[in-house]
Amino acid sequence: MSTSELSPEHQVEAARKAFEQEFERFARFTVGDLEAAVAEERALSDLRTRHLGKKSALAATKKLIGRVAPDQRAAFGQLVQATEVEFVQSLDQAEQSLKDYIQNERTARESIDVTLPGRRPRFGHRHPITLLRERLEDVFVALGYAIEDDREIETDFYNFDALNIPENHPARAWQDTFYTTDGFALRSQTSTVQIHAMQRRGVPVRMIAPGRVFRRDTPDPTHNPMFFQVEGLCVDRGITMAHLKGTVAEFLRRVFGPDTVTRFRPSYFPFTEPSAEFDFSCFKCKGSGCRICKNSGWIELGGSGMVHPNVLRTVGVDPQQYSGFAFGFGIDRMTALMYELDDIRLLFENDVRFLEKFE
Ligand code: DAH
Repeated sequence: MSTSELSPEHQVEAARKAFEQEFERFARFTVGDLEAAVAEERALSDLRTRHLGKKSALAATKKLIGRVAPDQRAAFGQLVQATEVEFVQSLDQAEQSLKDYIQNERTARESIDVTLPGRRPRFGHRHPITLLRERLEDVFVALGYAIEDDREIETDFYNFDALNIPENHPARAWQDTFYTTDGFALRSQTSTVQIHAMQRRGVPVRMIAPGRVFRRDTPDPTHNPMFFQVEGLCVDRGITMAHLKGTVAEFLRRVFGPDTVTRFRPSYFPFTEPSAEFDFSCFKCKGSGCRICKNSGWIELGGSGMVHPNVLRTVGVDPQQYSGFAFGFGIDRMTALMYELDDIRLLFENDVRFLEKFE
């Protein structure tokens, strides 16, 4: 039997049953959170349309009023109206309590506790390599040196030829780097800046050039394919090896303390003649031997020498009138030593837990 075949009273009753069934969960309703309440509010509005709207079962019963026997018409009309009022009241009540809940919840969320402490923006801080680089820069600026910055992508000319390393020279092998297809390479040493600086500034010149360099090394605790060096160059009339030794010794004393002793060992670099490597007495054990200096009392730092006449000639400087010294060393290794890091790669992993220690 379909609804329309029921008596008008039964049709009203059916509409009420259907409404009550659907409304039940709103009548006993508890909401967990704001989002759920907003969803319920929408569902409730749908429910209202379905049970009170023009196409609702209750609206259909209104059309029956005219067809009910005259003596029962008034009573039936009242029944329909009472039912409608009942629906409206139930819906209004549920809607109001939902609205109240939503309102309260929104206010609570938006409220600001003005007594809470402010949120301070977190300041970053400098990387340990930067800290050391700045310290070195300060020392050299105080000694009258300029700071040079230059390109990291170089031609073979600056990386090798101008530094007196012709093609097929064995020194190219230990400086093997990363090449691009157009005859460019990532610089394998900051010595390239010697050439740029002399071309740009002419002589006399006193400068240091801190910067990134690249080599085809497999990363291990003491190697990384990218690392930092500082290059130093001093060219003037009458510069001798004594100036080189004095300058390096003074800079090491200023960084590691007045008792620091410096040692030069003969060596070979294509762009200097004579060449020397330099070591300094261990800052930790003062030379008696410890873990840092591997019990030798000395820490090997870098290379140096008197600028080769060929290098001066390449940039148009007359080696009869001018002479100079140059030196270079790695900053990462120095940083690792000073902070007693067992693995140089820690410096490049960007692990905040590690970097925070240098604040
Ligand atoms: N460029 C060399 C290196 O990467 C270090 C060096 C040695 C720089 C001697 C110099 C120098 O300026 O004169 O190992």
